[in-house]
Amino acid sequence: MQVIAHRGASAYAPENTFPAFDLALAMEADALETDIRATRDGILVLLHDHRVERTTNGQGDIAELMWAEVQSLDAGSWFAPEFAGTRVPSLASFLARYAALLPLALEVKGEGIEHAVITALKAVREPREITITSFSFATLALIKRLQPTLRVGWLTRCFDEEAIARVRAIGGEQICPPAEQTTAARVTWAKERGLEVRAWGVRDEAAMISVVEAGADGMTVNFPNKLIACLRQRSLR
Ligand code: G3P
Ligand code: CA
Repeated sequence: MQVIAHRGASAYAPENTFPAFDLALAMEADALETDIRATRDGILVLLHDHRVERTTNGQGDIAELMWAEVQSLDAGSWFAPEFAGTRVPSLASFLARYAALLPLALEVKGEGIEHAVITALKAVREPREITITSFSFATLALIKRLQPTLRVGWLTRCFDEEAIARVRAIGGEQICPPAEQTTAARVTWAKERGLEVRAWGVRDEAAMISVVEAGADGMTVNFPNKLIACLRQRSLR
């Protein structure tokens, strides 16, 4: 069971920032998950929403803001005063800081940035393991075509035979179903067809335990410390 810190240890620190990722490492998470979008001048940055209001003190759509403007935003105060001055990371700075340390799940959120993401990854020396994820199947199909050696996982909203077949058809490695659809039977289907199963949408500890009991290969979770404690309690770690 891979413990993947969702936007970092985002229950305890501002999502998609270095403090959240550093805390995930300190908690001994196995991997980090983050979200990639592009600024107006084409710099890849880590931001979940397409607008900056919820997680920074700025305004506007990230695709309309220049990197120089984004760099000046405070991405920490909204969460708690002690994180004031925390910045929105660029993908390049994130990769330089973490790629050699632990596996990464990089979700492509922005549209039309597939080539830029691949270029950024080519610049990384000796990454541990990188998996590109997306809700957009077209994005993953394009990435697999451009860079067949790059691992991909489809964030599907429907965990069924058709979804499994689609991932297999593009040579994908992983299917990422919603936690509530991650049942033992469906995990077995997917594994028998050669796919890893990595759940998303784990909102609370009940959902976390349900995914553990279903036998999935991993999950993204905002509270990696709780998942690690749960796995240790069950002698699964
Ligand atoms: O683990 C995948 C998950 O991050 C997808 O949902 O909205 O948190 O990006 P979201
Ligand atoms: Ca995500």
